[in-house]
Amino acid sequence: MKYHLECTECGSVFGSSYNSQICRKCGGILEVFYEGKFPRTNKIQNFWDMEAIMPNSNYRHYYLGNTPVIKSKEYKDLCLKLEFMNPTHSFKDRGSAIEVAKAKEYGFKEVVCASTGNMAYSTTYYAKLYGMRARVFISDNANADKIKDIKSVGDATITKVDGDFTKAQGLAIKYAYKEGAFLCGDYCYRKEGQKSIAYEIMDSNPKVKNIIVPVGNATLLSATYKALAEMESSGKITKMPRIIAVQSEKCQPLVRAFKNSSRIKYEKPDTMADAIAVGYPTFGEQGIEGLKRAAGVAVSVSEQSMASEQKRFMRDYGLAAELASVSTIAAYRKLLPRGESVAVITGANV
Ligand code: F0G
Repeated sequence: MKYHLECTECGSVFGSSYNSQICRKCGGILEVFYEGKFPRTNKIQNFWDMEAIMPNSNYRHYYLGNTPVIKSKEYKDLCLKLEFMNPTHSFKDRGSAIEVAKAKEYGFKEVVCASTGNMAYSTTYYAKLYGMRARVFISDNANADKIKDIKSVGDATITKVDGDFTKAQGLAIKYAYKEGAFLCGDYCYRKEGQKSIAYEIMDSNPKVKNIIVPVGNATLLSATYKALAEMESSGKITKMPRIIAVQSEKCQPLVRAFKNSSRIKYEKPDTMADAIAVGYPTFGEQGIEGLKRAAGVAVSVSEQSMASEQKRFMRDYGLAAELASVSTIAAYRKLLPRGESVAVITGANV
């Protein structure tokens, strides 16, 4: 779809040829606004059926998305969406495929991103497919296997940062400005790709009442709300499901801000769930706004509960899943929400 970009801080408006995801006037993050009425999509058979609800570009149709939804073995109203069935074993591929395609379109030779691991793995993979170099800044908590995966999948220069995701993010932004690389990560184009999860969920079961998502940078959370609002405006759905946003008790800046009705404050991450160890979520304020509009809730879960879910997941399905991913099952168990629910199992890079 045709679109323009708007700065969420200073309100500046840019055309779709603006080759940055950050406002060069004030450093604020940009948002994609579509022009024209939103199309009502048909039932999705393939990730690229959703091109109609993405920023227009010359995408290459790589295989991804359309991940399985399975029934929970424990709860009759709960289904699990297995995002680790994507090429780099996490939901990140949906955003990277869109974002890296835009970098290619703008003529960049190199992409850069900060990450706790998965996003760097996925961005490096798509950079390789599109014939670009990748530079990744990895937080110090990233597990060794994720770093091995990044090395195995493409041509990335890896910098392990002496600090957390927020520090890595600052370094990636500086690198992009200094070296002329396209800044990837949890920004507007990734958000557009992540919307596809909610579309697939509503296609798999239009009666879904609750969608449960983990929160790191809150890109998935704000994308889920954006997708639901689009589906409502196009008449694809009549009632918006509730979104349940989950963080670890040991890193819960968004949950705290939601509960205290305050602005998000940086919190030093101290969780074993390495993927969601993000002290200041980039899309946090937007995520909270989405939760309010979708009558959603934000909940924290204990480290122990995620560890138990991970073991149960392996026992019940014979599959590995990351702590961050199974936080959504822990949240379901804690809240036992009414009605049919889908917990997004975001990744399996353990
Ligand atoms: N689940 C997994 C497996 C993740 O890797 C992430 C984020 C999230 C959930 C949270 O999603 O950021 O959209 O709220 N991982 C990022 C990374 C931070 O660098 O891979 P979000």
